[in-house]
Amino acid sequence: MAVLVTGGAGYIGSHTAVALHEAGRRIVVLDDLSNSSERAVDAIRALTGGNLTFVQGDAADVDLVSRTIVEQDVDEVVHFAAFKSVSDSVERPLAYFANNMGSLVGVVEAMAATRVRRMVFSSSCTVYGEPDEVPVTESSPTGAANPYGWTKLHGEQFLEQVAAVGGLDVMLLRYFNPVGAHPSGTMGEDSRGVPTNLVPYLMQVAVGRLERLPVFGADYDTPDGSPVRDYLHVVDLAEGHVAALDALPANPGCRAINLGTGRGYSVLEVVAAAEHALGRPVAHEVVDRRPGDVARIWAGTDLAERLLGWAASRGLSEMLADHWRWQEAHPHGYGD
Ligand code: NAD
Ligand code: WQD
Repeated sequence: MAVLVTGGAGYIGSHTAVALHEAGRRIVVLDDLSNSSERAVDAIRALTGGNLTFVQGDAADVDLVSRTIVEQDVDEVVHFAAFKSVSDSVERPLAYFANNMGSLVGVVEAMAATRVRRMVFSSSCTVYGEPDEVPVTESSPTGAANPYGWTKLHGEQFLEQVAAVGGLDVMLLRYFNPVGAHPSGTMGEDSRGVPTNLVPYLMQVAVGRLERLPVFGADYDTPDGSPVRDYLHVVDLAEGHVAALDALPANPGCRAINLGTGRGYSVLEVVAAAEHALGRPVAHEVVDRRPGDVARIWAGTDLAERLLGWAASRGLSEMLADHWRWQEAHPHGYGD
């Protein structure tokens, strides 16, 4: 049997594919390469000794996904395929509704048609909006502040409904802020366009592709005035998916689970840690707040520990050292 990894050529999907292989599973990656490159698939191949089937196509294509499930003997699905930029979603909301909901419904339809029940869904801490209290737990209030967040919140609700009528067993994994890269330096984040996330932007400044990191606000009600987030190593996050698939048979139905470290760092702390990892300063300047940013959020991690037996083990300096190893070796991502 095999695991179907939709969006498996992307940042988190590629690391998860490798972690699944290391855990003894056979992997099938389905990706339309809309935000990734076939070189990422080559990187997975190199790290898994070629033990990978790659299908290029749209996860919303029910026939393609059904055929792939049957031909490859798939019995579990990890669904990453989605667009992920908050700012892009504000500019192109329909593209986000169509792609993120379309691919989710397509995959679930294909699973129903082929009687595959077990699924892990990429959700996000974005479903907590601006939290009243930190850490946020899985029972904290949810909401959507932008079209991207809407697709995650409604994606979760859709899956809850399908599970409630007995159609699926699913874990909704709410990721906090993934950073880092595979420790080999051969696989990492390579989204198209100028990055909007902190660490990818910072690393592109460090390799000289961008001039200066804008620090969006140092006047928040936080210890140093800059916003606080829960950054976690992408390899820890990848291992969380293996743990979730392993835990599904004993935990049928639908559950939301936070995947974070339980510890927050401010933007200025991340900049300082990156400068330490690189051994040199990174040009940055405090500018106005970015609209829509929350002051602070980090994860309550009890449920992940209890249900999945999973806890993040890699710290901020390891995340930044690994991210830098990848970026330094590949200043232009997989294009180099
Ligand atoms: P990514 O863009 O690197 O990976 C997503 C992959 O899905 C890409 O390879 C893209 O080509 C593919 N894809 C998109 N639409 C598709 C479709 N219709 N059919 C087939 N393939 C398609 O993003 P990522 O950072 O790896 O994120 C993976 C998932 O995790 C997404 O669902 C994202 O919303 C979610 N997530 C990401 C973060 C983060 O900060 N990176 C945080 C929380 C949740
Ligand atoms: C982190 C901090 C910025 C860029 C987003 C999505 C969320 C989830 C994770 C998918 C913030 C600051 C950033 C820069 C900066 N993704 N920053 N200069 O906003 O916590 O979350 O990614 O689900 O849904 O909203 O992550 O990396 O964009 O920002 O100062 O150039 O870094 O203000 O405080 P964020 P981020």
